[in-house]
Amino acid sequence: MPEKQRILIVDDSPSNIKVLNEILKSDYIINIATSGEKAFSILEQCTPDLIILDIMMPGMNGYEVCSLIKKKPTLVNVPVVFITSKSDISDEERGFQVGAVDYITKPVSPPLVKARVKIHLLIKKQQDLLRQSISILEHRAELLQHKAELGMLAAGLAHDINNILFVAMMIDAVPSMLPDDLETKPIIEDSIKNVMVSLSMGRDICRGFTSYLNDFGEEKQIQSFSPLLTPLTMFVKTFKVKLYTDISSSLPYIECKGAQIKRVIVNLFINACQAIEGQEEKKIFIRAWAEDDRLYFSIKDNGPGIPEDILPHIFEEHYTTRKDGNGLGLSMVKKILKTHHGTVECITSKGDGAMFTCSLPAITDS
Ligand SMILES: Nc1ncnc2c1ncn2[C@@H]1O[C@H](COP(=O)(O)OP(=O)(O)OP(=O)(O)O)[C@@H](O)[C@H]1O
Ligand SMILES: [Mg+2]
Repeated sequence: MPEKQRILIVDDSPSNIKVLNEILKSDYIINIATSGEKAFSILEQCTPDLIILDIMMPGMNGYEVCSLIKKKPTLVNVPVVFITSKSDISDEERGFQVGAVDYITKPVSPPLVKARVKIHLLIKKQQDLLRQSISILEHRAELLQHKAELGMLAAGLAHDINNILFVAMMIDAVPSMLPDDLETKPIIEDSIKNVMVSLSMGRDICRGFTSYLNDFGEEKQIQSFSPLLTPLTMFVKTFKVKLYTDISSSLPYIECKGAQIKRVIVNLFINACQAIEGQEEKKIFIRAWAEDDRLYFSIKDNGPGIPEDILPHIFEEHYTTRKDGNGLGLSMVKKILKTHHGTVECITSKGDGAMFTCSLPAITDS
């Protein structure tokens, strides 16, 4: 049962107090003060939901008590109802001026007092709820603001790293400066090619990150699938894996943010490379085909596969079983595909590797 609401009655006349107490005591918790001064010592201990205030009292009169109440931040929202034998219109006006919400003249009618008290308490409750909702909304707005600021910070960082990578990519010009008869020239050229692939991937990631966070930057474009596999060349060499591809010759076009889909492919590919490290023969199979107005591609490895108890968690953010893993790769894959109306699934069996299959909507002729 909700706790009863609390009313403070401030009146110097015992008979008035008795009448009001009789009318209200069954529905509310009643506190009584026989002067303004005594009212404030009660108000220091507890905050009522409503104050019924007499005007003519020895010491501080009702108007003074009310003005003081309205100056205190902890009490300003407590409704004050004047109850008095003064019935002059100017008295009423003064009552409202000092912040009262209502004015009841004596002799009081019990049903009228009950009804008015009830309505003011209801309004007070609704106002409290409204104030609470506003403060929750303000808090949420503040959190969103922080999130946006963090997004801007990360996007700014990605942008700066992108610029640094641009300068680093000038290494591309080095081979042409080397004399043709230099014995090591082909090796240097080959290494620089590899460095260039990784630098341009870094730039793609930075660009993608900027757009991923702020939804600006890279636009979706209609493109073919095969070029999205180019970053893999570098990883094939680095991880010394054997790559088998089976790409259908009649693949449809897809509409996507290329840098983002490259991140999907690279993450699945690196996971596969990491899973087969230590295997005698490291094999990765990439297939791509069209089916039901969608483009499908799968990346399969010949690693140990994913145990049954781990499988339900692999797409969770920060879930990892690798010593140096962050557990971000697959959750990012899922998020990126979701923004492309795509899907990702994993099929695995013990000892037979893991196969991740993704799909994206195809651009159809219609
Ligand atoms: N091809 C795979 N073979 C076996 N296990 C895999 C494979 N791909 C993913 N996993 C499992 O899923 C987990 C989550 O993968 P995810 O890419 O999200 O994170 P991670 O690779 O651990 O860290 P990182 O954030 O650096 O990518 C991995 O720790 C691993 O246990
Ligand atoms: Mg990973």
